[in-house]
Amino acid sequence: RRTPVSRLEDGSYLVTTYAENLALLHDPRLSSDPSHNPQFAAAMEELSEDMQPSFLQMDPPEHDRQRRLAMRHFGPPHQPERIAGLEPRMIEIVTGLIDGMAGKDRIDVVDELAYPFPVSVICELLGVPPEDRSEFRKWVDLAIETIDPGLDPETQQEKRKEASTELFNFISNLVERHRQSPGDDLLSAMVADDGSEGRLSTGELASTGLLLLIAGHETTVNLISNGILTLLRHPQALDRLRQDPELVIPMTEELLRFEPPVHFVPIRTALDDIEIAGTTIAAGSPVTLVLAAANRDPGRFAEADRFIPDRPDNQHLGFGSGIHLCFGAPLARLETQVALTEFARRIRNPRLAEDPPPYRPSPILRGPLHLPVD
Ligand code: HEM
Repeated sequence: RRTPVSRLEDGSYLVTTYAENLALLHDPRLSSDPSHNPQFAAAMEELSEDMQPSFLQMDPPEHDRQRRLAMRHFGPPHQPERIAGLEPRMIEIVTGLIDGMAGKDRIDVVDELAYPFPVSVICELLGVPPEDRSEFRKWVDLAIETIDPGLDPETQQEKRKEASTELFNFISNLVERHRQSPGDDLLSAMVADDGSEGRLSTGELASTGLLLLIAGHETTVNLISNGILTLLRHPQALDRLRQDPELVIPMTEELLRFEPPVHFVPIRTALDDIEIAGTTIAAGSPVTLVLAAANRDPGRFAEADRFIPDRPDNQHLGFGSGIHLCFGAPLARLETQVALTEFARRIRNPRLAEDPPPYRPSPILRGPLHLPVD
């Protein structure tokens, strides 16, 4: 709280308080385009030349155009039934996964529920055939985090480039297949758009499809596992949820505040000098907005370090804010609500086998690698 905006040794800035994070998330002088940041631009060279950036890494007006064209087909307010209509199928998937745990002394909540559930949902939503899913997972894992750290930097870069080329080929083939034989899925709807508000090119369809698939694989898994971990650490909250299933709605918001899966958003770059909280962020500097710290700012949230399942006025930043506000928030909320409700309803006397559990190596995405429960 003493230094809401700090300058680090490498010349970048770190923003850790609520008001400053919120103000900067809405400030058009901060760009999401990595080509403005020399360090990040170098990392982009690890990507396949064919791969276009997605709208997550763009500024207006291009960001707004692509986001609007994708949003038209995704969920509320345009297609409310696309997400809400998935609930029965979500319950069916979770029921099947929990049935599969019967008779086991120990389960791994990540491998047996928190990972396979949102992955099945996003694949079904986008129309990724089941036989393609393990191949996709392999390339996503390689492109995102699990390159063997023992390898020399050049080999790591080669492997990442290879993975991103495979991902690009995978998604381009998928777009083409959906063009030839459309189904009742989101990618088909985007491909077959009537063009009344403009069109996404084939490259833009691929980068948007890939963004949705990766976001659907890498984020909600952590909210579900962080949620179950938090419930097991707060048994009264688990009891309350069993007695009052409606509690799952404010509880999910509190989890997004208390244990957010995305700790900071992709690095922004200041396009101009920005005066904030007594500091001047110099034009050209990289800026890290730490949402997870903002969510624990005692100047904004009473008893910020306490998990309060029915916390009132919970305007957390777990999904970001401003023009890049999470596109998948309605889907992630519903998935988490279904998973927590069914876990509370069906799993009797669960106990954490390891606390803290092992965590994923990523500094950005926070969640357990495994969550063993007896
Ligand atoms: C953007 C968090 C699930 C798709 C974001 C941002 C955050 C976030 C913090 C803002 C990034 C920024 O400002 O640069 C989360 C969390 C999730 C989740 C915590 C799960 C609990 C999902 C899912 C999808 C998705 C399931 C897709 C189906 C996106 C997209 C953007 C985004 C496309 C970019 C929006 C834009 O640039 O306009 N998400 N996300 N997210 N999210 Fe999520």
